[in-house]
Amino acid sequence: MDFELTEEHIAVRDAARDFAQNVLKPGVIERDEKQQFPSEQVKQLGELGFLGMMVDPKYGGGGMDTISYVLAMEEISKVDASTSVVMSVNNSLYCWGVEKYGTEEQRQKYLVPCAKGEKIGAFCLSEPEAGSDATSQRTTAIDKGDYYLLNGTKNWITNGGSASYYIVIAQTDVAKGHKGINAFIVEKGMEGFVVGAKENKMGIRASDTHTLLFNDVKVPKENRIGEDGFGFKFAMTVLSGGRIGIASQALGIASGAFELAVAYSKEREAFGKPISQHQAIAFKLADMATEIEAARLLCLKAAWLKDQKQNFDKEGAMAKVFASRVAMWVTTEAVQVHGGYGFVKEYHVERLMRDAKITQIYEGTTEVQKIVISRAVLS
Ligand code: CAA
Repeated sequence: MDFELTEEHIAVRDAARDFAQNVLKPGVIERDEKQQFPSEQVKQLGELGFLGMMVDPKYGGGGMDTISYVLAMEEISKVDASTSVVMSVNNSLYCWGVEKYGTEEQRQKYLVPCAKGEKIGAFCLSEPEAGSDATSQRTTAIDKGDYYLLNGTKNWITNGGSASYYIVIAQTDVAKGHKGINAFIVEKGMEGFVVGAKENKMGIRASDTHTLLFNDVKVPKENRIGEDGFGFKFAMTVLSGGRIGIASQALGIASGAFELAVAYSKEREAFGKPISQHQAIAFKLADMATEIEAARLLCLKAAWLKDQKQNFDKEGAMAKVFASRVAMWVTTEAVQVHGGYGFVKEYHVERLMRDAKITQIYEGTTEVQKIVISRAVLS
């Protein structure tokens, strides 16, 4: 067992850290407040190769492993979880799905621009009445010969307004249950496809979350991903990979809050000495560091399994459950360490606390992860 990072891993982590601290940090509070999508920052992230990190270089990607992805996600999320969710969805849910299961034509047309970061992808599964219960898709795609006729509504779609390409999950044959579900690549601008309202959110406020409406959208047959009826398995596989990204996002939110708490505790004095010298604070920091290290190891273990081409469904779910719980707890404690300053925006920790909550909800709630884990341990 080797816990050493390679030189390449360290270089990726350091590049992500530099970008986060120098490019993302200035303006992060304002973007959160104004719900302003980080367009320029995402463009630069793409130019640095972080939007298609794991994609084969022949399709414009970085050809890196999942461990590099976890390291980069942690660094970006320490500072700006609104930007890191764009990165996570584009890398894991969009690019990985199209690369793994798309046809060569689909890869050339829909993967290459997103792997290069010239365009952004989105993944559309959730509906007003189908979030955790993903088999209950109400969006329909009726086979009309050369095309499918797509109708329905998707909710909570990350990159909803900023994406150019959307993987949309829809029911093609209700009688077949999950075997009657398909995944399609839909382009922005297709007739009948409307980007609806933007959500006003508690956290990750600078990210771009929308409702999407599909009214008689004609989706060419060649835009279906995989064999007829493959859509549910496609979604489950892709979401499983995505959970490593969100677990790493939660890890980054926690470690970002922890670093701020450590720095503050060394500066702030009370009762004649820095508060870090009081056991009440020092023990908090010790507990935070321990929980974060455990979360990091779970994320890296899941990533390592994926890189070894082994099954990582259970470990990815464990990483997400644990890291998201740690993110909630650590950020709350970081606010406490900061006292009154923690409750105001300038000190960043209140934003991290708000951002942490979504990691227990999206790409499968904590409860969904526990279904996945309990089924694995009971099987
Ligand atoms: N990989 C491959 N196949 C899988 C799989 C996986 N990880 N998980 C299940 N399957 C297959 C099963 O083998 C089964 O196939 P067969 O019938 O051929 O054996 C089929 O899928 C159905 O599986 P289940 O019976 O286990 O399905 P279920 O209805 O009990 O659902 C669930 C299980 C885990 C709860 C699943 O519905 C789920 O993950 N729900 C959560 C969905 C989710 O994450 N939603 C979030 C929205 S996306 C998002 O947040 C994106 C964003 O913008 C950030």
